[in-house]
Amino acid sequence: MSTSGGYVPSTKDRAWIEATAAPLNAGLVAIETAAGPNDIPILDREAGRILSVLAAGRHRIVEVGTAYGFSTLCLALGAAPDATIVTIDPDRSRTDLARRWWRQGGIADERIVVVNRPALEAFAAGPDEAALVGPFDFAFIDALKPEYGAYLEAIVPRLLPGAIMAADNVLWSGEVSGDKPSRSDGTTDAIRRFDVAVLHDPRFSSTILPVGDGLLIAAYRG
Ligand SMILES: C[S@@+](CC[C@H](N)C(=O)[O-])C[C@H]1O[C@@H](n2cnc3c(N)ncnc32)[C@H](O)[C@@H]1O
Repeated sequence: MSTSGGYVPSTKDRAWIEATAAPLNAGLVAIETAAGPNDIPILDREAGRILSVLAAGRHRIVEVGTAYGFSTLCLALGAAPDATIVTIDPDRSRTDLARRWWRQGGIADERIVVVNRPALEAFAAGPDEAALVGPFDFAFIDALKPEYGAYLEAIVPRLLPGAIMAADNVLWSGEVSGDKPSRSDGTTDAIRRFDVAVLHDPRFSSTILPVGDGLLIAAYRG
């Protein structure tokens, strides 16, 4: 299974990567600074860099779960210069702040459309929610964990063949694998079901990166 003698990257390796990486965009720094004290969950930097890389050359992106817009900005910075992103979050108090940080990060307003509705309601609105009609060549899921499977089923008919789908928190702090005892709210089971379903879904080629809280990445075969 291993070709590296069982080597597991260390804290020092991670610090070296961090120190060697290109400087973080000013908007991303501002979001990180604001998110901590306000208890807003955002993607960690390593996963953010992966999203930026995966977004390269992508033109139409849909995101479920905006918050302060850290992942949105990572996607916008990595995607094609004319790419547009539709990002969904019912919490307008968060997405209005996000807009300011996207501007600070150098992203023009017209490149990011915010839909302030619960995602499943917005997807179910069909052509009435014009921004979500698609097609999309990238989808990122990071909102209510028990709804991940339903988000995916709403998104799949809107995906182009070759589209990338990514989802955050799929290891749920070690609870999905059983490394840590799971809380009894059903969330861990729901995430585990989502992970297993996607990893065995013939419509996708997929894997889980053990980065941050676990980042599932999948390519849509069409
Ligand atoms: C983990 S945060 C998103 C973090 C963001 N992707 C980032 O990395 O910066 C989850 C967000 O999902 C939003 N949310 C809650 N219910 C939702 C729903 N039904 N549809 C879409 N978003 C929802 C919350 O308001 C919250 O801001």
